[in-house]
Amino acid sequence: MASEGDKLWGGRFVGSVDPIMEMFNSSVSYDKRMWSADIQGSQAYVKALEKAGLVSKSEMEQIVAGLDKIHEEWSKGIFVLTKADEDIHTANERRLKELIGEAAGKLHTGRSRNDQVVTDMRLWLRDSCSVLYTHLTRLIRTMVDRAAIEVDILFPGYTHMQRAQPIRWSHWILSHAVALCRDAERLGQIRKRVNVLPLGSGAIAGNPLGLDREFLCKELNFDSLSLNSMDATSERDFIAEFLFWATLCTTHLSKVSEDLIIYSTKEFGFVNLSDAYSTGSSLMPQKKNPDSLELIRSKTGRVFGQCSGFLMVLKGLPSTYNKDLQEDKEAMFDVYDTVCAVLQVASGVIATLQINKEAMEKALSPDMLATDIAYYLVRKGMPFRQAHGISGKAVQLAETKGMSVNKLSLEDLKSISPLFSSDVSTVWNYTNSVEQYTAAGGTAKSSVVMQVEQLRSWMKNHKDCGV
Ligand code: ARG
Repeated sequence: MASEGDKLWGGRFVGSVDPIMEMFNSSVSYDKRMWSADIQGSQAYVKALEKAGLVSKSEMEQIVAGLDKIHEEWSKGIFVLTKADEDIHTANERRLKELIGEAAGKLHTGRSRNDQVVTDMRLWLRDSCSVLYTHLTRLIRTMVDRAAIEVDILFPGYTHMQRAQPIRWSHWILSHAVALCRDAERLGQIRKRVNVLPLGSGAIAGNPLGLDREFLCKELNFDSLSLNSMDATSERDFIAEFLFWATLCTTHLSKVSEDLIIYSTKEFGFVNLSDAYSTGSSLMPQKKNPDSLELIRSKTGRVFGQCSGFLMVLKGLPSTYNKDLQEDKEAMFDVYDTVCAVLQVASGVIATLQINKEAMEKALSPDMLATDIAYYLVRKGMPFRQAHGISGKAVQLAETKGMSVNKLSLEDLKSISPLFSSDVSTVWNYTNSVEQYTAAGGTAKSSVVMQVEQLRSWMKNHKDCGV
């Protein structure tokens, strides 16, 4: 076993760590993903040290150049990790010492891995939020473009999975697009809260060496400084928020997926998934399975698991940094990777989906117009509650006669209410039905077109995550 005296933190140690503990403690296998953020933070930090007179100009230049070299090694994939590298921070600093010698020892002056790690995570996550935002807005655009083109297609809207009222297919698409717009806005807000600089907080108490944190803030392009060093080194609200954001966003996509899975069954036959996003069965040659949508649905569970798991880690921690917090990174990386993939697959599925207009329209049935009979009577002055009852009676009469409600004669209808007249025939038309819903947010063509326009102007105003 190696003596711990060789480790960057090893001064007070004489004994050695059990190898299983060494593995248990190590985070480098995953936190090495933040190598670039770690170097960026260190280069800014050494400039602040020079400004405070804690390193000379030449030491600062050596350190910056050494870190550039390390950057190059990581970029080329030739950085060699050693067994003693506990995390990305110790790995980069160990390498810096190998490259430039004793001057490397000045880099960590007044800094702790506690403020370093959370700075790295914020740097990493703010860029990653921007990537997710791009994928998300691409998906929204795909949906809005589809909705604009297919605005004339009608199909059944369901509540409780029972046929409810005729709606426009585009209205269904947009109902999911607006949820995703809220997700995009939330992501922008989270990015703002991510972009707060903790560096200069030290381990817990702050910085005693006159470090200019405002300088660091500008240098690293953060929006603001953390207010309290104890909070700054230990709070992981920004991770919890990100994990919750991802949970909600994937929940929205799992609902889209669930609808499309149902619509793609032979029983419904409304949509046909592109071969690019389906697979076959190894046993049943006729099958085409909606694996893409099923995986999106399942990833939602995985993401939620990371979110709830990490909240459990946070619950009941004593003040400031505890090693429990190392768990934040695997949750963050896994959720990022998962959502990144989900968003791209969802865009592909929606862009390539074929719809079966005939099956959609064939699934509309006259019973879905029962509400319209009530509205017909309301327009003739009848109170809605009474009209609802009359319409119900018409449905029941049709049932007892074994016919659909639109086949009742005018005499039949008049026997239920004298307000029925020959113009009732206009009710038995699905286009007339949807065209009633002209109020903002409704399913009339004018209203759906307005939603498309509003979403397009939203997209213009929300081009990037910073907005
Ligand atoms: N690898 C650690 C983490 O991810 C870095 C911070 C270590 N700090 C400490 N006091 N041991 O949380």
